[in-house]
Formats: sequence, C-alpha cells, structure tokens
Amino acid sequence: MASNGGETPHRRGIMTREMDLDAIRYTSSIKFDTEIMKAVIYVNVAHIKELAAANYLEPSTALEAAKTLAELLDKPITVSDEEDIHIAVERHLSQGYPDVAAMLSFGKSRNDAVVAAVKIRLRERMLELYLELLKAAETLLKRCIREAETIFPVYTHLQRAMPATYGFVLASYALRLIKTTPQLKHVLDLCSESPLGSAAAAGTDIILNRRRLADMLGFERVSLNALESTASRDFILSALGVTHAIALILSSIAEEMVIYSSEEFGLLKMPDELAATSSVMPQKRNPVVAEIMRTKAGETLGHVAAVSSILARQPSGYSLDLQQVTPKVWQALDEVVESLRLLSKMVEKVEVDVERAYKACMPPTAAVFLANYITLRYGLPFRKAHGLAGRISRLIAEDRLGRDTLAKTVSELGLDLTLSVEEILEVMEPRRAVKAYVGVGSANPSKVVETAELALGRVAVEREWAARRREEWGRALSRLLG
Ligand code: ARG
Repeated sequence: MASNGGETPHRRGIMTREMDLDAIRYTSSIKFDTEIMKAVIYVNVAHIKELAAANYLEPSTALEAAKTLAELLDKPITVSDEEDIHIAVERHLSQGYPDVAAMLSFGKSRNDAVVAAVKIRLRERMLELYLELLKAAETLLKRCIREAETIFPVYTHLQRAMPATYGFVLASYALRLIKTTPQLKHVLDLCSESPLGSAAAAGTDIILNRRRLADMLGFERVSLNALESTASRDFILSALGVTHAIALILSSIAEEMVIYSSEEFGLLKMPDELAATSSVMPQKRNPVVAEIMRTKAGETLGHVAAVSSILARQPSGYSLDLQQVTPKVWQALDEVVESLRLLSKMVEKVEVDVERAYKACMPPTAAVFLANYITLRYGLPFRKAHGLAGRISRLIAEDRLGRDTLAKTVSELGLDLTLSVEEILEVMEPRRAVKAYVGVGSANPSKVVETAELALGRVAVEREWAARRREEWGRALSRLLG
C-alpha cells in the first residue's frame, strides 16, 4: 500500500502487490508535477466534459465532478509517494466521485494527457519569456535613444576599433534579443497542437470529438499522429533551444558589462544596487549580477545536453525516460526569465563614464576616417592612405605627432600632400567621426535613433500579439470552467 493510503487505482488488475516505496519515489514525477498541476486539472475537466457530451458519463454528475476538480486550482492537493499527478488527481476525485474518476482513463492516457498539460503550461511560460524579452529589448532601446550621442568605443578582437556611441551598442543587444522572437513564436505554435484523443500510443476506439477537446483547452489544432504526439518531446527541445539562444545573448552582454566595468576599461560603472563589495578589500565593486548572468548559458546548455541525451536512442512510443525531459525546460525558463528581468534593471541603471569613453575614442581610434579622408581629399588609393594613416596612428600612440614628424613620414612614404596636424585631429575627432557615418545600421546617432524607434514599434506589435494569445487561452479556459 502506498503511504498516501488506499490501493493505487490502476494497480488492482495485473499487479498483486503495491509498488515498492523506494521504487515509487525513484520513478515518480510528483516533485516537478507541481508545475503542470493546474494544466492537468484543465485537461481532466475537459475530458470529463467531453465524456459527458459523448454520453459516456451522466451529465450532471460529470459537471459536479468537474467542479470538484476545478476547486483544486485554488487549493492544490499535497501529494507524496504517488507515481505522478495524474494518478494523484484520479485518486483525489475517486473519494467524492468514484464513478467519474474511474472514467478518467477512458479514451485518454497519461501519455496524451501529460503532453497536453505540458503544452498548456509551456505556452504560458514561453509567453512569460517572450514578454520579459520584449521588456528587456524595450529598456535597451529607450536607453539607446537617450545615449544615441554618448561617444563610446566599439571593439573588434577586443581592441579599440572605431568610435561609436553607447546607444549604438545597446541597440545591438536589443536587436539580438528581438531576432529570437520568430523562434519563440515557433515554439508557441508547436504548443498549439492538441495531442488529446491520441491516448497511449495509437489512438482510441472511444468516440471523442478531438476538435472540441482542443477548443476547450485553447489549442488551435489537433495532432495528426498519435505515436508522434504522445512520444515526441521535440517541442521541448525547441523551447530549450531558443531559451539557450537567449541565455547565450545574455551571457555575452553580461561578459561585456563585466569587462567594461573593470577599472582597466573603466567605461561603465555598476550601480550600488547591482554590485557587491568585498568583505576584505574595501575598495571593491564587484559586478556580481553580470557574473551570475554569464553563467546561465552554461546551465541552459546543460539542460539542452541532458534532454538531448535522453531523447537520443528513444524508440518511438512513450517511455518513462520522457518524463525526465520536462523539468529541464522549467529550470531553464526560470533561469533565463530571471536573467532578463535583471538585465532590464542593469540596463536602466548602469552608468557610463562619459569622459573615459570619449577618451577611448580619441585619435588614433578613428584612423579609418583619416584613411578615407586622405583618399577622398588627396586622391590617394585607399591602400596607400591606409599605410599613411597607420604611420600617423603610430606617431599619435607614441605622442610624437607634430608638423615635423608628419612631414618626415609623408616624405618617407614618397608622397606629396599638404595634410596638416590640425586636419588630422579634426577628422579623427570622435563626435565629428560618429556624425560622419552614413547609411542604415551605422553608428550615426540619427540612424541609431531611427533604428531604435523602428524596433520599439516592432516591440509594441509583438506585445500586442502576445496579449491576444494570452486572452484567447484565457477565454477558452474560463469557458471550460464556467
Ligand atoms: N509522469 C509521466 C510524465 O511526466 C506521465 C506519463 C506516464 N505514463 C506512463 N505510461 N507511465 O511523463
């Protein structure tokens, strides 16, 4: 006998003894079924209603039983030592409505029920991720507009590359995040297919209206192959895939924040609220939020790896291995949603050391502008202009740029031009350089603002789309319970 009392409802046939307690605990999903508890109730309520509609249950008793089940939405049962939430729910219902409880697996299996419940919960969790991602993108874009003129260097090979603005850098993060939304939508689409009616593996001979069942739960369509819909967890891997992709983006942003806020770079300063200090070195300001954020991609990769290795070598029908896949996606979502929340805070509050950022863009950072200028103004082929600008960069780096050294360099290269020190410094002045960028996508402040405004529009559209989805599901579920 299980420690929850009474015989386990489905073990009275072929089994003559209850399952060993350690074995139940070892194989049970009950610890992580809390995540799908509500969804399991919805699925069972829908099933009871469908059984009544198809005359397999007496309608008024079915309705009462459904109501009793729905009460669990507000005060969940605490269960232990049960195979899973599906059995726990059946056992619970059997106390008041044994005849209805006894029909929960009529035309339905835990195999299709669990997929339905996971999809119902996952669509909600993915939407939460979606909205949090949009919020982070919006925060980035709003700050981007404020910082569109804040001179800030960009790096390649982590060497100063070109002068740009802090707004430009923030917009690059925002766009990376926004580019994951088609993948998020794809996962939501995978979640909008109802497996109910697939039963254990090959469908059922019980006549149930699959379309109606799907509608009751806010699914858009029914699955087309029972084996696939009960035993595939590809949709979870897709969910993990995009969650991991987002974690990777967060990780690289966080890494950059750590680097830029180090004293060696000194471009950013973490606000007190998001930094820790040392218990022994009083001068320390440690960017701990960003440090933890960059670890999350490792965690999500771990979940992807765990799920991949479970799904590898799976025969086609359901095996209990699949149960172990589900909690990984909840864990990954917990981590990434929280990280996005903190990213929004970090982006709002991080301070730019405007002077150091400007200084980092001072000559020779804009050397490519000088080379281009020499080509345009003096008609030198770019490769030659590049060579001269390189020599001038060296003079600047060595603090030796002057009229004489410049003249010597020009003549050493066998050139004949009237380029002056003043001209050089003017062309390479960061503010001038940044305004000289042309074209969509460049760091020109006006282009950056245009991009940010466009992206903010996209965020608003996406948000509306998400709200509509949520409303549709909400409407279906309140109809179901009404
Ligand atoms: N706890 C299981 C899971 O999460 C439910 C399905 C169990 N099916 C079965 N035939 N034992 O996947």
